[in-house]
Amino acid sequence: MDFEKLLHQRHACKLFLETKISKEDIHFILESGLLTPSSHGFEPWKFLVLNDKKKNEELSKLCWNQQNVATASHNIIIVARTDLQSKDEFAQKQVRRFSGKSEENFQRVLVLYTHSTDGMNLDERYHYAQLQCYLALMQMSLAAMSKGIDSCMIGGFEKEKVDTFLGLKNPFQTAVILALGYKANPPKYKKQRLSFDEVVEFL
Ligand SMILES: Cc1cc2nc3c(=O)[nH]c(=O)nc-3n(C[C@H](O)[C@H](O)[C@H](O)COP(=O)(O)O)c2cc1C
Repeated sequence: MDFEKLLHQRHACKLFLETKISKEDIHFILESGLLTPSSHGFEPWKFLVLNDKKKNEELSKLCWNQQNVATASHNIIIVARTDLQSKDEFAQKQVRRFSGKSEENFQRVLVLYTHSTDGMNLDERYHYAQLQCYLALMQMSLAAMSKGIDSCMIGGFEKEKVDTFLGLKNPFQTAVILALGYKANPPKYKKQRLSFDEVVEFL
């Protein structure tokens, strides 16, 4: 699909048909998520996939009964990870990929890359990771649209309850959800956006 057309066609879909997304397409969407850029290349996320009708309906109850979540072919729950400090095995593993073979260089890059996260508390690290999960959210939503698959980004959920439903434990916490499927109805509204001049200033 032409990129400009794709940008206009993607919309917050409120209700999906029963049609399931194929295994190939859902893999393509998830692979697109893996390619998302992240600060220091930490990739501070996991993508948990629900494609069972009952489970989607259960999840919807924790998302203020939103029908897009209930009727989705698949819900991708993007989970933020907070083990991003110099002491953490995961952060060390990610840094090692960039630091080459020398231990000295590894220690140098580790200090550099974890300088900010080492000074953050758990909530701050969650927020830092969540920002990047939102990039994966956008990337997967556009990847889906490129295959003619609709989606809705879901920030309206009871976080603690979703964490419990998914059995999440430290260092993982729910960041955001992407409901995916084929739209049951055309978008209700024409795209509403601020005008170019309201948003853009050339300095
Ligand atoms: C972070 C985020 C959270 C959102 N949460 C919800 C949600 O819980 N339920 C919903 O129906 N739409 C949700 N939306 C969709 C927005 O309402 C929608 O993108 C916006 O109104 C613009 O419409 P459009 O996406 O159709 O262009 C969310 C969007 C974003 C970016």
